[in-house]
Amino acid sequence: MFYQMLNAILQVLLIAQMIHGQSDKEVLLELKNFLQAQNPINRGAYISWSESEASPCHWKGVGCDDAGHVIFLDLSNSNIAGPLFSSFSRLTRLTHLNLSSNSITGELQDDIKHCQSLQHLNISNNLIGGFLDLSRLTKLHTLDVSQNRFQGSIDENFPEICSNLTFLSVSSNSFTGRIDKLFDNCPKLKHVDVSWNSFTGMVWPGIERLREFKANNNNLTGRISPGMFTTGCKLHSLNIAINHLYGTFPSSIGNCSNMKFLSLWENSFHGSIPPGIGSIVGLEELVLASNSFNANIPMELTNCTNLKYLDISDNNFGGTVRDVFGKLTGMRSLLLQENNYTGGITSSGILQLPNLIVLDLCYNQLSGDLPSEISSMKNIKVLMLAENDFTGTIPPSYGQLLRLQVLDLSFNSLSGDIPPDIGNLSSLLLLILVGNQLSGEIPREIGNCTSLLWLNLAGNQLEGQIPPEIANIGSNPSPTFMENRKNPELLESITSKCVAVEWLPSSYPEFNFVQSLMMSQKNCQTIWNRLAMGYDVLPISSPLRTALGYVQLSRNLLSGEIPSAIGTMKNFSLLLLDGNRLSGRLPAEIGRLRLVSLNISSNFISGEIPSEIGYMDSLESLDLSSNNFSGALPASLNQLTKLSKFNVSYNSLLSGNVPSTGQLSTFDEQSFLGDPLLSLHVTTGSSSGSSPRELSSSDIEKHPTKEEIMVTTIAFLAFFIVTLLTREFHGFMYLYFIVSRKVVNCMILHNRNAR
Ligand SMILES: *[C@@H]1O[C@H](CO)[C@@H](O)[C@H](O)[C@H]1NC(C)=O
Ligand SMILES: *[C@@H]1O[C@H](CO)[C@@H](O)[C@H](O)[C@H]1NC(C)=O
Ligand SMILES: *[C@@H]1O[C@H](CO)[C@@H](O)[C@H](O)[C@H]1NC(C)=O
Ligand SMILES: *[C@@H]1O[C@H](CO)[C@@H](O)[C@H](O)[C@H]1NC(C)=O
Ligand SMILES: *[C@@H]1O[C@H](CO)[C@@H](O)[C@H](O)[C@H]1NC(C)=O
Ligand SMILES: *[C@@H]1O[C@H](CO)[C@@H](O)[C@H](O)[C@H]1NC(C)=O
Ligand SMILES: *[C@@H]1O[C@H](CO)[C@@H](O)[C@H](O)[C@H]1NC(C)=O
Ligand SMILES: *[C@@H]1O[C@H](CO)[C@@H](O)[C@H](O)[C@H]1NC(C)=O
Ligand SMILES: *[C@@H]1O[C@H](CO)[C@@H](O)[C@H](O)[C@H]1NC(C)=O
Ligand SMILES: *[C@@H]1O[C@H](CO)[C@@H](O)[C@H](O)[C@H]1NC(C)=O
Ligand SMILES: *[C@@H]1O[C@H](CO)[C@@H](O)[C@H](O)[C@H]1NC(C)=O
Ligand SMILES: *[C@@H]1O[C@H](CO)[C@@H](O)[C@H](O)[C@H]1NC(C)=O
Repeated sequence: MFYQMLNAILQVLLIAQMIHGQSDKEVLLELKNFLQAQNPINRGAYISWSESEASPCHWKGVGCDDAGHVIFLDLSNSNIAGPLFSSFSRLTRLTHLNLSSNSITGELQDDIKHCQSLQHLNISNNLIGGFLDLSRLTKLHTLDVSQNRFQGSIDENFPEICSNLTFLSVSSNSFTGRIDKLFDNCPKLKHVDVSWNSFTGMVWPGIERLREFKANNNNLTGRISPGMFTTGCKLHSLNIAINHLYGTFPSSIGNCSNMKFLSLWENSFHGSIPPGIGSIVGLEELVLASNSFNANIPMELTNCTNLKYLDISDNNFGGTVRDVFGKLTGMRSLLLQENNYTGGITSSGILQLPNLIVLDLCYNQLSGDLPSEISSMKNIKVLMLAENDFTGTIPPSYGQLLRLQVLDLSFNSLSGDIPPDIGNLSSLLLLILVGNQLSGEIPREIGNCTSLLWLNLAGNQLEGQIPPEIANIGSNPSPTFMENRKNPELLESITSKCVAVEWLPSSYPEFNFVQSLMMSQKNCQTIWNRLAMGYDVLPISSPLRTALGYVQLSRNLLSGEIPSAIGTMKNFSLLLLDGNRLSGRLPAEIGRLRLVSLNISSNFISGEIPSEIGYMDSLESLDLSSNNFSGALPASLNQLTKLSKFNVSYNSLLSGNVPSTGQLSTFDEQSFLGDPLLSLHVTTGSSSGSSPRELSSSDIEKHPTKEEIMVTTIAFLAFFIVTLLTREFHGFMYLYFIVSRKVVNCMILHNRNAR
């Protein structure tokens, strides 16, 4: 009996020794093998780990203590897919483990819990799901599990790992449960980020002990009690935007004298802006948008001499714009959108703020003439006065605003001419004057706006010819793009409400793709900034075109011929000239453009449809309806394989046949209404319930472009790899995001052809 017991003990000791005796190097080589097996194609720096080296301490991403034990392992950004390696705990001294920015899937295994020396764990930006249980990791200082797929509540084991924790981020997962007691036993916490989850209940009352607390985009509710901010408040940054918090916001926030950033955006706070804010002299950014704050802006706010960014959009402020704003002399961005402000703005002093670069007064009831004082705001880059009741003319002196990049005066009651001085605005990227009563001719000088890529003059009473000089707009936006790359302060220009979405014409192909990306408030600023810096919409290179320029002159009284010079506007995707009095022929040069949409409906254009239109192989929408075109449909239109909207209705002189094969055969009679001389091909095949487009033979005959084939092949390969290796459908969703809808459509097409 005794002997047996001894034997057992000996065996246990032996095994224990075996485990200990196994060197860290062996574990790392095992890890390398594991990763290589999981990732046959893309690999990280671990591939250089060489067995022939005696010690692993100089391997890339590996660090050791003096005794040669591995304590540091950085495998971030190493193209790792598949499940987690299950023997990290055999690196018994490991204190730093960084697996961030990979595509690791599955759930956290017990192994990680046994890494009891761990002080810094970063697994952010992976695809790890399940519950978060790290209960044994009591030495953790920093824990970053953001951007994964964790779910469930984290409160049960949380206190155990909390005694040494200073930094915690669980942002962008699907966590639920309450957080109001969660950090009570975390004495050292300084930075907490629980944003973008589904946490419920009240805000943790201890936040003043932290330097940073981010809980935006959750389902938190309740009031913020005055007792939350005492003289000991250490907060530098507080973000509780997009929750369901309510009540008045306590003035005791003034105790947080180190605060630099405060966002209460999109809650249901009411009452006055807490005057206590005036004691936070260092405050730089204050975002109060989309609440129900009202009453007067407290004069104490003027004590915040470092305030650079103030957004009180979408609240219940009203009356004349107060002079308190004019006293915030450090202000760079002032956003008062969507309130009930009336009268003029001159008396407010805002127009004298020396550093202002962004002024957004859209969606109010401001009236009177556009103030000429604006022309002395030499630093202004973004001026948005849309959706007010401004009357009178556009002051020619606005031509002095040489740094102006965005001018949005849409939907007011402005009249008179567009001043030729607009041509002096060489930095202008965006000019939106839609929905006024502007008259006279479009000034030729507009052609001097060589940065101008987004032009909307629709819905006015502009007359005369379209000046040929218009073809020069957007011909050299690079200086403005470079300026924005050097000085990315336009970041601030977008309110929480993201007006940039409204600058993109939603119902047009390509734009609606960008718009739907922008709809997510997470992306809106980023995408607008990418556009303003001249980058691709998506960070990786993709077949998506960078140039999304547009010209919208719809619904005016423009007459004469469309200038052939427009053939040089290569950076434009959308040309809308519908609802004017344009006549003459459609210039053949139009075929040189790379348009996605062309609408010249409801004009008096005559002659034949130029066959050159068939060269615009990006064209998805072509509307030539209600004109006076004659002759046959050019055969070249059948080459427009991407065309999905086509309308030549009400051109009574069009004649000949609509081809029975090719792209044009995919359109039904709705595209050819009121064309008595045109004979429509009558389909004879069987018809089932689905749309004619899906069934048409043309889909099969369609030849994808080289670019499409290449991208499709890559997408296919990647899809198979992701599916085979990770069996993760979500990996494919990610891919989908990257390569855009079109390619996926294209893939589906190929699939169909294969059958
Ligand atoms: C992990 O790696 C990323 C990228 O290399 C780095 O930014 C981050 O600081 C690292 N985090 C930790 C905790 O080591
Ligand atoms: C974790 O890694 C990510 C990306 O690699 C990095 O952005 C983040 O700052 C890291 N977290 C910490 C706490 O260092
Ligand atoms: C906190 O860290 C210290 C040293 O960094 C360590 O001695 C202590 O045991 C840790 N606390 C807990 C509860 O593990
Ligand atoms: C918040 O809760 C409501 C129901 O209580 C739910 O419909 C909604 O999806 C939740 N929102 C988030 C962001 O979790
Ligand atoms: C600061 O906190 C104390 C309690 O610590 C409170 O009595 C006081 O009113 C607060 N100060 C402000 C300006 O609210
Ligand atoms: C604002 O500053 C004035 C002095 O300029 C001071 O008397 C007042 O107490 C300050 N208000 C607040 C709320 O700190
Ligand atoms: C503005 O005032 C009108 C009535 O005068 C009211 O119906 C509307 O809700 C107010 N809008 C805002 C944003 O307060
Ligand atoms: C615009 O430029 C023209 C020609 O250089 C100049 O005559 C005019 O005064 C300028 N307008 C403004 C408002 O600066
Ligand atoms: C502006 O445009 C007009 C007319 O197109 C042209 O004559 C003039 O030289 C341009 N001025 C500048 C400063 O480019
Ligand atoms: C298009 O824009 C680029 C910069 O983004 C510029 O270099 C190029 O000259 C422009 N092309 C035309 C035809 O305007
Ligand atoms: C073209 O403009 C007309 C008239 O403005 C409009 O009714 C039509 O929907 C537009 N066509 C397309 C394809 O958007
Ligand atoms: C339409 O075009 C024909 C010839 O192509 C021309 O004779 C006729 O005057 C035009 N009608 C209108 C209303 O422009």
